[in-house]
Amino acid sequence: MNSKFGLIYEGKAKKIFAHKDSDKVIIEFKDDATAFNALKKAKFEGKGELNCLISSKIFEFLIKNNIPTHFLELKNNNSMIAQKIKIIPLEVVLRNIAYGSLCKQTTIKPGSVLERPLIDIYLKNDNLNDPLLTKDRINLLKIIDNKELEFISGMTLRINKLLKKFFFNINLKLVDFKLEFGYNSKGEIVLGDEISPDNCRLWDLNQSNGTIVSLDKDRFRNDLGGFIEAYGEINKRINDFI
Ligand code: TMP
Ligand code: ASP
Repeated sequence: MNSKFGLIYEGKAKKIFAHKDSDKVIIEFKDDATAFNALKKAKFEGKGELNCLISSKIFEFLIKNNIPTHFLELKNNNSMIAQKIKIIPLEVVLRNIAYGSLCKQTTIKPGSVLERPLIDIYLKNDNLNDPLLTKDRINLLKIIDNKELEFISGMTLRINKLLKKFFFNINLKLVDFKLEFGYNSKGEIVLGDEISPDNCRLWDLNQSNGTIVSLDKDRFRNDLGGFIEAYGEINKRINDFI
């Protein structure tokens, strides 16, 4: 029986459907790729499946390591069943190495290893182009309180330690990534969204000649070619390792 009976929400990369259990949803991963707040758009056959499979494996790994996430189980190759959560409208970015917007907005040179991980929190609002927030602005907007902010920051640091190790095992350097959190039906804060090459920067450590080889959405953002092949390579390395 098909339990997908109602589209709840359609985002740029995923569709959320109702599940027969009201505290669950079905998340379907689309083949669409967007960048720069959807100014740039394309479709890559197989992208949805790859991101769904990669995300599922990473969520399973995080759950095993006591990180609460919305992930419940894979439904099929391009959809997963997850806890229904109320998304907190924040995009939590953690950076280990300076790249991307950090280098456009500051004088830090691309590729600089940061002394300690940097957490940048943005407002999840496409109309405003996801502006960078400050702690005071988060307080002002009453999005979450200080205790919740500390909880989310602490969990993000723990996730970073786990993911750095996870990706290092498959010869990838975790440069930065973006997380989203939400409240489940019990009011607990859990990790939501996805963890895939769409929202992580991953550099290939197999290429040792000093140049940066991105195996992530930067291949699309920066017109580097080999986009779907890079995602396929990440999925293959994860499956070969697990
Ligand atoms: P940034 O350098 O463009 O701020 O991106 C930092 C990280 O966050 C990078 O891994 C890509 C990810 N990211 C998203 O997942 N969604 C977004 O909308 C943006 C801007 C970045
Ligand atoms: N997620 C954003 C978009 O879909 C931007 C990005 O990832 O670069 O447009």
